[in-house]
Amino acid sequence: MAPSPALPDPALVVLVGPSGAGKSTWAAARFRAEEIVSSDALRALVGSGPADLDASIDAFDLLERIVTARLSRRLTTVVDTLGTDADRRRRWLGLARDAGLACVVVVVDTPVAEARRRNGLRDRSVPAAVLAQQHRRHAQVVPALADEGWDLVVTVPGSGGDVGSGGSSTSSGDSLSTGADPPSSPASGERRSSQGLRIVLQLSRFPWGEDPRTWLRDVALAADDAGLAGIAVMDHLIQIPQVDRAWSPIPEPWVTLGLMAGLGTGLDLGTLVTPVTLRPAGVTAKAAATLSALTGGRTFLGLGAGWWEREHAAYGVPFPPARDRLDALEATIETVRALWGAGTRPYDGERVSLPETTCYPRPVAPIPVVVGGTGTRSLRVAATLGDAANVPSTLPALDDHLAVLRGHRRDVAVTVLDLPTIGTDRDDTWARVERLRGRSAAAAYAGRTHAGTPAQHRDRYAGLAERGVDTVFVALADLEGPDDLARVAPLAR
Ligand code: CTP
Ligand code: MG
Repeated sequence: MAPSPALPDPALVVLVGPSGAGKSTWAAARFRAEEIVSSDALRALVGSGPADLDASIDAFDLLERIVTARLSRRLTTVVDTLGTDADRRRRWLGLARDAGLACVVVVVDTPVAEARRRNGLRDRSVPAAVLAQQHRRHAQVVPALADEGWDLVVTVPGSGGDVGSGGSSTSSGDSLSTGADPPSSPASGERRSSQGLRIVLQLSRFPWGEDPRTWLRDVALAADDAGLAGIAVMDHLIQIPQVDRAWSPIPEPWVTLGLMAGLGTGLDLGTLVTPVTLRPAGVTAKAAATLSALTGGRTFLGLGAGWWEREHAAYGVPFPPARDRLDALEATIETVRALWGAGTRPYDGERVSLPETTCYPRPVAPIPVVVGGTGTRSLRVAATLGDAANVPSTLPALDDHLAVLRGHRRDVAVTVLDLPTIGTDRDDTWARVERLRGRSAAAAYAGRTHAGTPAQHRDRYAGLAERGVDTVFVALADLEGPDDLARVAPLAR
């Protein structure tokens, strides 16, 4: 389960509430055990048990060290104490501020009678007078919180059986329930999520073991079953270091897409992106037109200027300077459009002249050209010559790219490449972060990949949809096979 959607993450979360209020129960339902620093748990570690008050000094000593260490790494930290010590609160707040983390107080409110009742049921109950004193203290602390500089002070009810329910400033939408979402409708032609987005799997890694054909088939069928709008295959000659080792398989995309076309799914198929340096423009036009014929018109073409010198050198393919590659990008778009056009007449365009445009099979539907790249000129080419511009989903850069693109053409279609860490719950998400982060700090990797549950990614995708994004290309760094599509499916609903 994720923290309530209204809680920032990563964050310092300080719990405030008397014994038996339900602080530990609230935290355990929302955070990983490692994220919760509890004075009771530390008393049990250094003393005879959670109620060993003689161990308090040692326990709090450790608590402060753990909180300091976690916050300095920008890791979400839930401090589970009574929360009544103003000096400690101020210190934690300062540490979190220094680390640039959001700072939250969660007040766990439970009627005195209920707390007293629960206290009585415990193995070692707090003496009645102590509990009464805690409640008086609590009542003094709560009004003071508003002036301490917290980003958010949330009050949650510690009573009632449903420990998963939200609080006064949070909603209860932190389950992965999909009951509210309409089912995907594969028959409707265009597949969009209820947020209005086309969700397309970008295949960049191919851990297919001994059986490439079965792996590709099963992944494509799983994507189709999940209601995704399509599959995009990366186009490189050597696996790029951002994704995997150089000796990992990276198949030729048009051949790969041909196999998928044979499955008869409702998926749109194409490349993201084809570097214009790798093939003569006309040959790319031919490949895409053939795929259009084989898919019944469900084909798109991603195009970019190319950037990786090494793969060109290794394959004996020229790698001209950036300016020439960008010229080639413009010329390629013109060439493919000329060859996809009606008839076979000669073409005499702005940058390209062709003696004839005989290209059969012809595309059976228009093939959208998606231009990738974030350079000044790539963005201009995308907006002015492409059918769509593809840029990274990362904020705030996305907003800058949108402004530039819309400066060129107000109604430009925008697609984004999203590289999320998606976990089934908070524990699974962090296990994945830990596995994938390489040499990056966990918090940095989690931030960069928006690590979270499908529900959290949907919250983020709502922001993309609001910005007018049309399509999200989703690439999973930990895609192993068809089962992984279960983590993407909720995004497509
Ligand atoms: N409890 C409950 N319903 C809730 C929350 C808690 O019945 N909505 C019960 C828990 O099962 C537990 C008791 O109330 O037996 C106290 O909850 P806990 O979360 O342990 O309270 P804390 O605020 O953490 O108390 P302490 O300060 O003593 O650790
Ligand atoms: Mg507790």
